[in-house]
Order: sequence, then C-alpha cells, then structure tokens
Amino acid sequence: MIKSDLKNDLNTIKGYATMIKVKNLRKEYDGIVAVNNISFEVKKGEIFALLGPNGAGKTTTIKAILGLINYDGEIHIDEKDAKNKDVKKFIGYLPETVSFYDNLTALQTLQFFAELKGADKHKCMKLLGEFGLKDSANRKVGEFSKGMKQRLALAQCLLGNPKLLILDEPTSGLDALGAYEIRNKIKEMNEKGVTILLCSHILSEVQELADRVAIMNKGEIIAMDTVKNLGKMLDIQPKLKIEVEKITDSLIGKIKEIVKEVKVDGNLIEVSCSPDLKLQIINEIEKETKIIDFKTIEPTLEEIFIKMVRE
Ligand SMILES: Nc1ncnc2c1ncn2[C@@H]1O[C@H](COP(=O)(O)OP(=O)(O)OP(=O)(O)O)[C@@H](O)[C@H]1O
Ligand SMILES: [Mg+2]
Repeated sequence: MIKSDLKNDLNTIKGYATMIKVKNLRKEYDGIVAVNNISFEVKKGEIFALLGPNGAGKTTTIKAILGLINYDGEIHIDEKDAKNKDVKKFIGYLPETVSFYDNLTALQTLQFFAELKGADKHKCMKLLGEFGLKDSANRKVGEFSKGMKQRLALAQCLLGNPKLLILDEPTSGLDALGAYEIRNKIKEMNEKGVTILLCSHILSEVQELADRVAIMNKGEIIAMDTVKNLGKMLDIQPKLKIEVEKITDSLIGKIKEIVKEVKVDGNLIEVSCSPDLKLQIINEIEKETKIIDFKTIEPTLEEIFIKMVRE
C-alpha cells in the first residue's frame, strides 16, 4: 500500500477495503443524545481521527465499536458484526482512563494481559523497553506517574500484534517528549499496516497523524475528509510568508492590487492567497526589492475546526 496515496487522495482511500463500518449509530443516555445517527468508514491501513470538543461523543462512538455499550445502528469490523467475539481478538484498545492493579509490577501487568489475550509473554520485556519503561519493569504500577501508566497502557494494547488499534486520547497525560514518542510509535505501527482509529481534541496531533478526520460536535459528524480537502472546502487559503529586504508603501500598494489583505510585521509580508496568485505576488515583490526567504503555510486544522464549529 502506498501511504502517500492515502494521505493525498480521498478517491484513492475509497478504493481500499473497509476495516470499520459504522452506519446510523445512535446512543442515548437517560434522555441525553450522546451520538446522533452518525455513519463513517475507516479504511484498512489508514489513520482515522475523531476530533471534537469535550462531550462531542467521541468516546461513546469508540465504546460502541468495541461493544462496551448498547447502541442503535450497525457496526461492522472487517466485514463481521462488531458484536462478534472473533473481531475483538485483533483489536488493541487504549481506553480514555486506564487502571491497573497497583500491586503488580509493570512486567507482571503486561504478562497478565498477554495471558488474557493469548499473546507471547516473552515479548513483554521488549515492549516495555520500546515504551521507555525498561528500568521500571520491576516497579509496582501503583508507584507509577500518570504518564508512565499511559505508556504501559499503550504497550498493553500492542500485545498480540493487533491489526486494528483504537486509541482514546493516546497522548493524554504525557509530557512533550512522551507525546512525541507515542506519535512516532503510532506512525510506526501504521507503516507496518496497522489500521488506527484515534480520538483526540489536540488539533496539531490529529493534523500530524491522521489521513482523514471526522469532526464531531454535539453527537454529530459535521465534516469528514482529509485535512487538505477540509481546508479547500471551507475556502481557507494557504498563507504566504515572504521576508524581504525593504518594505515600501508602493510595494504594499502593489500587493494590495492583487490581494485585499496584507499583513506586515517588520520585514515580513503575510498574505492569504490561492496558489495561482502566489507567483504574481512574488513577481511584483521582486520588481521592487530582494526576497530573502519565503514559505507557504497550508491551512491548519485549528482554522478549519474553529470555522466549522462557529458555522
Ligand atoms: N455513562 C454515561 N452516562 C450518561 N451520560 C454519558 C455517559 N457517557 C457519556 N455520556 C454523555 O454523552 C455525551 C458524549 O460523551 P463522550 O464521553 O462520548 O464525549 P467525548 O467526545 O469523548 O468527550 P471528551 O473529549 O471529554 O472525552 C456527553 O454529554 C456525556 O455527558
Ligand atoms: Mg472522550
């Protein structure tokens, strides 16, 4: 599978087999509609993210997929009904809140879960090492910090070589380095062919990791696409940042003839424009002064999200 195809083209994604199919999922808790009739598909080999503010229904969706709650609608995993016990065997799940037995060591904890899953117990020590817990392998989990428990939970969900990982806020409670390592681990697993469904409200994390994103709000999916396509759909223009030798009023005037809004900060000119106007602007600048540096910044998921939720 060519990963870049997945990242760039939704039509390509449509050609891939389906790992998770959610159709008309609805969940109500005592009169509160947590998830309101949502449908989506996660393709084999992709990283799919559910993104949304607190209470949007992300965890409820995940719990339904895992069969941890009752729901209305249909969920299929690898073409089998999600309620089928067989499908659970190849899923690794990281819950929103993790709890372990305080009196077991990290190694004993992993060995315990390996036994439950029928996974190879001899791989536990190696897994602990991969998650930076080698030196704490024989310490009791009750003494672990939140971040250490989160790492242990991630190690646990990789036991038994799952082909689908469902991760509820995977970097929650981790410091910057820990979060970076986990993101790399997620990418590494995905490159090995593991399909990943994750939920998060950290926009930069989703932008970095996800092939496609479903933005959830108040129990509904309000948008679903690649980050790039979402930006296009909302007509959020890429930004062009140009550092020049000298800024003059006549230069700014000329750029304003091409685009309405021009921001100036010291020797830096910033405009939002479509790719076809980019060259025109650069040509205009070059007639007046020297360009020291320039870069194009694609729309961020944050801009998309804010525009989406506001509208
Ligand atoms: N066990 C429950 N009993 C009653 N209401 C619940 C239960 N679990 C979730 N809800 C409600 O369902 C809605 C969606 O909750 P959910 O946990 O799915 O949100 P979320 O998107 O995961 O939010 P967060 O980002 O805070 O984790 C919320 O209004 C929540 O109060
Ligand atoms: Mg949640």
